[in-house]
Amino acid sequence: MRMVDLIAKKRDGGELTTEEINFIIEGYTKDEIPDYQASALAMAIYFRDMTERERADLTMAIVNSGDTIDLSAIEGVKVDKHSTGGVGDTTTLVLAPLVAALDIPVAKMSGRGLGHTGGTIDKLEAIAGFHVEIGKEEFVELVNRHKIAVIGQSGNLTPADKKLYALRDVTATVNSIPLIASSIMSKKIAAGSDAIVLDVKTGAGAFMKTAEDAKELAHAMVRIGNNVGRKTMAVISDMSQPLGYAIGNALEVKEAIDTLKGNGPKDLEELCLALGRQMVFLANKAASLEEAEEKLREVIRSGKALEKFKEFITNQGGDPSVVDHPEKLPQAAYQIEVPAKTGGVVAEIVADEIGTAAMWLGAGRATKESGIDLAVGLMLNKKVGDPVKAGESLVTIHANREDVKDVVENIYASIRIADHAEAPVLVHDIVT
Ligand code: URA
Ligand code: CA
Repeated sequence: MRMVDLIAKKRDGGELTTEEINFIIEGYTKDEIPDYQASALAMAIYFRDMTERERADLTMAIVNSGDTIDLSAIEGVKVDKHSTGGVGDTTTLVLAPLVAALDIPVAKMSGRGLGHTGGTIDKLEAIAGFHVEIGKEEFVELVNRHKIAVIGQSGNLTPADKKLYALRDVTATVNSIPLIASSIMSKKIAAGSDAIVLDVKTGAGAFMKTAEDAKELAHAMVRIGNNVGRKTMAVISDMSQPLGYAIGNALEVKEAIDTLKGNGPKDLEELCLALGRQMVFLANKAASLEEAEEKLREVIRSGKALEKFKEFITNQGGDPSVVDHPEKLPQAAYQIEVPAKTGGVVAEIVADEIGTAAMWLGAGRATKESGIDLAVGLMLNKKVGDPVKAGESLVTIHANREDVKDVVENIYASIRIADHAEAPVLVHDIVT
């Protein structure tokens, strides 16, 4: 087999066989196929697309390029949730204990964040003592006994994706549905869960800017998952404005606690229920999505979800008293209000721009090597559709520096006030 022939085949609209796709991914991972040939193929795929079968084969070839996590020692149906990434997205912190409270195993492998705020591990580390440096055996035991544990990423998962993604980044081939879908799904499948729930974001703060693109990506990923034997569902959700009110690590932990108490922001709660009900359904703990949602509401009402969060914190070395005393979380030295310059209705809070303002405060990492300040961030006081009077606070800045002129300017640039505006629809669609 010669790579040049396979590039030509795809360039001319042909369908690659399973063997051909395996040859390409194995050869590229081992550096036997050079970057310039892989880029030419990526561009051919960009223009010619891939069939459903090719997409599934590509995904599994990427999975098989490295280690995979074996969760078979954990009892029950393991369901993982994946978000394509947004601003102030606190859903994982809520969903993990919420779903575990229904005896569904949550075996979460998480990473650190890059960009607006930290990742799930960074956020959890805002709780004094909490750590993810646990061994594989302890991880399995914790999930079997308590239904919930989080461990740091380890192992050489999907090396082919790392190479390909970096190559696509510099060859203008990131934006291709078959390549994005196989990239994301390969990582989820290598992480070992039996079923997958996807939160595909759309809007300014999302990778997919339009609802149509998000829908196409969601369908592509759901088909791949189901075609390779992992039950998969998706929610398409709005990320034109940040989710909830909090953007920042400790602030988001507090927001997650409020949500588990039933007092969280309405949009965060709605999205957690939309994703959670798919997780419960796929774990075979409910006969319908409606029944699944009722079960989730019940563990919030009864306090069982909150108890599960305390248990989870304790198991991993953290101080569970933060749940009843969130003031024990790291606090920033300064709280600075950003008043509205005019009255009206909030018409726009551009998610990625306001996320960048949070990053400047130190809530997120600009590069992989940057440090992170767990205490700082932004609290929105208004969301799109809310009326506002001139002088009323739009945002409270939590900072560890006194001079925040740059951040204030960015906040004003990302919030638009108009005469009329309506709150956006949060859940655009569900794909089952
Ligand atoms: N995120 C990924 O992990 N892969 C892509 O290709 C695009 C976004
Ligand atoms: Ca939030």
